[in-house]
Amino acid sequence: MAKVLGIDVGGTGIKGALVDTRKGVLISEKKRYPTEGKIKPEKIMDLIAEFVRDLKWTGIIGIGFPAIVKNGVALSAANISKKWIGINIDEQVFHKTGLKAYSMNDADAAGIAEMRFGAGRPFQKEIVIVLTLGTGIGSAIFVRGELLPNTELGHLEIRGKIAEKRASDAIRQKKDLRWKEWSFLLQEYLDQLEFLFSPDVLIIGGGASKYHEKFFPHLNVNAKLLPAEHLNLAGIIGAAWYAEHIKK
Ligand code: BGC
Repeated sequence: MAKVLGIDVGGTGIKGALVDTRKGVLISEKKRYPTEGKIKPEKIMDLIAEFVRDLKWTGIIGIGFPAIVKNGVALSAANISKKWIGINIDEQVFHKTGLKAYSMNDADAAGIAEMRFGAGRPFQKEIVIVLTLGTGIGSAIFVRGELLPNTELGHLEIRGKIAEKRASDAIRQKKDLRWKEWSFLLQEYLDQLEFLFSPDVLIIGGGASKYHEKFFPHLNVNAKLLPAEHLNLAGIIGAAWYAEHIKK
């Protein structure tokens, strides 16, 4: 069995578990630590070290991170502290834990999990967009099974405002919107995505995905609309899978 510690850093907390990367399933209990305010590098490094200690982990670590991540370096900071920009996450984790880490964008991680082990499996020849609706809106585009990384489609502008500031799940909660009201905002966003990319399949993950029955009936899209099978665990599974497959 190939085991990897998968970690998903989010806007309001960090979760992690050991993953069997052949089967794409969790093989330890999932733990979540909530964070306050915009997450800072020192805090996340402490929490990652805590996961490692708790699980007595000595293997590699895969990290899904809510920013543009290129070669382990965070290059943006929408819902996290600006201090992250330019930080080499993989190096910092190695420094803190002595373990090799491989980080990637969180939505790309969730997308990989869904394409390999979830709702995207039957669509390896199609154009698939995976969206994560949580604190922000994350995106992953797959063209015939191949990921185009770091797409940041949550930052498209709709009526002069960044899409994730209008239609993320955090906005639904903050404004206490009814599912139908929120669906209207989401619909505008999905219309824009369909116009730009004509996807065959749209997979919805992230925190909101477990309530898909409440808002899918209000949406009208040309693509096949599916909830993520792994719901908000997809980020942990995909980050672990990625680490196993690119490890040096
Ligand atoms: C970030 C993305 C991230 C998404 C979901 C956005 O604000 O810019 O990198 O994937 O939130 O966490």
